[in-house]
Amino acid sequence: MNFRGKTAAIIGGGGGIGRELALALAQEGVRLVIGDVDEGAAKETAGLAGSEVHATICDLGEDASVNAFADFAFQTLGKVDLLFNHAGVSVGGLLEQIPSEDWNWMLNVNLTGLGRSVSAFVPRMTEQGGGWIINTSSGLGLFHDMPFGGPYIATKAGIVAYSRALATYVRNRGIGVSVFCPDATATNFMTAGRLTGIPKEILAAGMSADKIQTAKQAADVLMEGLRAEKFLISAVPETSEKLLAMAKADLAPESDAFDEHGQSKIVVSKGGLRVPLAKRDEALALFREFADITQGHYGCQFYDITISASDPEQLVIFEVWDSKAALDAHAAAPGAMDLIMKLFALGASDFGVQEIH
Ligand SMILES: NC(=O)c1ccc[n+]([C@@H]2O[C@H](COP(=O)([O-])OP(=O)(O)OC[C@H]3O[C@@H](n4cnc5c(N)ncnc54)[C@H](O)[C@@H]3O)[C@@H](O)[C@H]2O)c1
Repeated sequence: MNFRGKTAAIIGGGGGIGRELALALAQEGVRLVIGDVDEGAAKETAGLAGSEVHATICDLGEDASVNAFADFAFQTLGKVDLLFNHAGVSVGGLLEQIPSEDWNWMLNVNLTGLGRSVSAFVPRMTEQGGGWIINTSSGLGLFHDMPFGGPYIATKAGIVAYSRALATYVRNRGIGVSVFCPDATATNFMTAGRLTGIPKEILAAGMSADKIQTAKQAADVLMEGLRAEKFLISAVPETSEKLLAMAKADLAPESDAFDEHGQSKIVVSKGGLRVPLAKRDEALALFREFADITQGHYGCQFYDITISASDPEQLVIFEVWDSKAALDAHAAAPGAMDLIMKLFALGASDFGVQEIH
């Protein structure tokens, strides 16, 4: 795809990846409109991106707002070549405890939102003779191994499925479709969601800082994928190999931890957390209880916690598991999260566990 002379509408362009995308498109000479539920943020992006960029409010969760945004986009730009359905929200936590209200709030934005955007834009894209629609899913829409993220993952997998159906639906109208799967990216997104029953630190605990991409890196992957007119544009390293291994393993839950032969890999990980000295003995007692529960878990080969020799406030966790799925499963076992919550109530911080290769 050649961007020169094209126009684009971005829903969710007020921050993070959407903002970087706007900057990259503007640099290619694309005329843009930015929509965001946060109108101020959308206008800020427009200000940064240049004089050919316009912004207004757009709530992907509201029919009237998306229709008004489509009217604004077609009036301002004359035509819309590229439509980015980028906005999304997240819901996660203990799966038995997530309120239906939170499920519905997220479904309405992440999935119904795509439907309302397609209703608002596709008829006019068809009339103008074509275009391209890009739906933002996630690496988690392909690889689903994050137990506390279940509801969010379900919507992101749904976006991949919907995008495939949409691609076939609009093909004979000259409209192309891509689905974009960012990997973990440093934006506000990670902390903006609704979480029930677990501390926010737990969600990010297994992610090494060096694996988290910048919003610009994610936007660059998207631009490159669009240039090549790819359907699946994924920022996850080795996506095809991982999808293949997952298929070879018949989609078993360990899917993203298989080797190229479809065999589950042993996971050795090391991590820790900080606890104020005055609370350390209490924390260690809780951790011993946690370790006792954990030793009996499916797939646990070894689990221990010690005090760092160089820093008395630092507790060090070392664990060996039969697979990544076994590691992922243990914090969700009965009683485990209660103990983790008690640890955080004692002032624990800087929690992190990372795989050792
Ligand atoms: N950051 C990550 O790690 C990551 C990873 C994979 C996928 N994603 C996906 O990327 C997209 C955005 O993520 P980001 O990292 O750029 O986040 P971000 O939080 O920096 O930006 C999201 C933008 O969407 C806007 N928004 C939220 N709800 C909206 C609504 N109802 N209507 C219109 N705008 C709305 C927010 O105001 C914000 O400006 C989401 O679809 C998310 O699922 C993010």
